[in-house]
Amino acid sequence: MNSTGHTGAAGPAVPTVDVDHSDPAYRAWLKEAIRKVQADANRSADTHLLRFPLPPEWGIDLYLKDESTHPTGSLKHRLARSLFLYGLCNGWIRPEAAVIEASSGSTAVSEAYFAQLIGVPFIAVMPRTTSREKCRLIEFHGGRCHFVDDPRTMYAEAAALAERSGGHYIDQFTYAERATDWRGNNNIAESVYHQLRLERHPEPAWIVATAGTGGTSATIARYTRYMQYDTRVCVADPENSCFFDGWRENDPTASTDRGSRIEGIGRPRMEPSFVPWAIDRMMKVPDAASVAAVRALEQAIGRKAGGSTGTGLWSSLKIVAEMVGEGRAGSVVTLICDPGERYLDTYYSDAWLAEQGLDIQPYAMAITGFLATGRWPG
Ligand SMILES: Cc1ncc(COP(=O)(O)O)c(C=O)c1O
Repeated sequence: MNSTGHTGAAGPAVPTVDVDHSDPAYRAWLKEAIRKVQADANRSADTHLLRFPLPPEWGIDLYLKDESTHPTGSLKHRLARSLFLYGLCNGWIRPEAAVIEASSGSTAVSEAYFAQLIGVPFIAVMPRTTSREKCRLIEFHGGRCHFVDDPRTMYAEAAALAERSGGHYIDQFTYAERATDWRGNNNIAESVYHQLRLERHPEPAWIVATAGTGGTSATIARYTRYMQYDTRVCVADPENSCFFDGWRENDPTASTDRGSRIEGIGRPRMEPSFVPWAIDRMMKVPDAASVAAVRALEQAIGRKAGGSTGTGLWSSLKIVAEMVGEGRAGSVVTLICDPGERYLDTYYSDAWLAEQGLDIQPYAMAITGFLATGRWPG
């Protein structure tokens, strides 16, 4: 024995428990899947920042970030890409195992696209009321639609399907806020600020978002704070959604018992990805106002958009009206979330409005009056 107490050159045997799960075939598949998702991003251009025409003498610019021009037609293309990368890098998405999602439609369209890209099956668990066009798009991208009558059962049904099939419940409502790189990496907020660089008001007074998962508003709000901008973030919430009450009362248990009529936004429970403390302001927008606003958008810029775009636009116009009233110049940004062609038999159908008991006339007149006079009614 030497002075250190060691018995020999190799020392005593030290047992080590060593389990190696690495599988070269799986790692080769994973590498290829991640390459395909990254290559899709690399082939894609940024989305446009359009202008909503306002009287020049107001000194206010209103912009719409047009997320309908992504390859799968909505802001959910960004989210689906992030969720797939997160699931792949975490080892949750595996070769041949199905990816399953609870979705009101748009996310599922984008996820079906990414599932097809990397060659895994995809099943969307959706409310039976989801627009026919969205279901057609999910199937076009090779996905399968699985309907539930009560939207509140979507999550449990998706989790159960994943459990039964050995698939992965990708769960946008939990992971949206963390799968997206909120500090930058060309997220939606970084892109907006980049596109505003040469404008007369490059730092918007307000950015107005809507919330489904809450992921988009969380990303924008965190980014503006992280970058120390003075921009404030407003979330516009439709009827039959608990986000507004839950935010105002600081109540994580807030809930509603009916589904939202504005597809993609407004939730019956406070979703884990909704980050209320980062939101500066919220507005509750009547559904008829959302529809009136989205129809006014078509008159203003010649483009149809989905109902959630109208919800955000209504709130943005109200904020612009406040700025006019205060004599304050500046800019406001909101989003075109998805294209109106998906909703020809709902928001663009007068028969559907009548069936729903929605009278958009007073709201349409309010917008026309505001654009002519600068005064917001009421
Ligand atoms: C059409 C539409 N607009 C807006 C949103 C809101 O986005 P987020 O989920 O990031 O809150 C969604 C989300 O589902 C949507 O489908």
